[in-house]
Amino acid sequence: MKRRVAILISGRGSNMAALIKAAAAEDFPAEIAVVISNRADAPGLERAKQGRVPTVVVESKPFGKDRAGFEARLQEVLDQHRIELICLGGFMRLFTAEFTGRWYGRMLNIHPSLLPSFPGLDPHGQALRAGVKISGATVHFVIPETDAGPILMQGAVAVSDHDTTETLSERILEVEHRIYPDALRLLASGAVQLDGDICKTPESAGSGNFLISPAASPGGTTV
Ligand code: GAR
Repeated sequence: MKRRVAILISGRGSNMAALIKAAAAEDFPAEIAVVISNRADAPGLERAKQGRVPTVVVESKPFGKDRAGFEARLQEVLDQHRIELICLGGFMRLFTAEFTGRWYGRMLNIHPSLLPSFPGLDPHGQALRAGVKISGATVHFVIPETDAGPILMQGAVAVSDHDTTETLSERILEVEHRIYPDALRLLASGAVQLDGDICKTPESAGSGNFLISPAASPGGTTV
């Protein structure tokens, strides 16, 4: 039986589209049962309809600071669609500890940095200002703290001196679209285990799987 997944979005929904595409494969262990947006004008809603996935809008604005009220309505929609797993894809609304506790181990988020570095806003700018040579994306379980929680999967890219927030975010987005479906596949197939703050999987990086940045030239100076 495929696990029933809801994707929560607030914007363009490119990660949502990557998940919908992956889940269309017969052997994928999850199906995207509904896409929920907290904004009626989210461009991702149209993309979800093109992918023939039911969409629901639960506007968060009318709830103002009443996060529990918004979450009660959200939970109703999740129940109606018999949702077992949630994927956040650019969902720009914070949850209460009660909601994250209820969905602990069953709700994933993706963030465009190698967490725990650069959580929050403008992660690409944060990475460039820090001068890191490698950045990437992280899929993690959701806990009350923003952009934190047990890490399920990460993907890395080299950062060049010429990068801008635009070029870096484009490159990291490619990695996001690759790792989010892979991470959901692992979770939905029961291949991950939470051990305190650590997420364990039987998968491990292949040997020789290095990313070194910047790559030193063969005739370069050694220290
Ligand atoms: C993605 O880059 C995602 O990693 C980021 O928002 C973007 C949404 O794009 N999420 C966060 O920054 C979470 N803190 P998308 O709507 O095209 O998937």
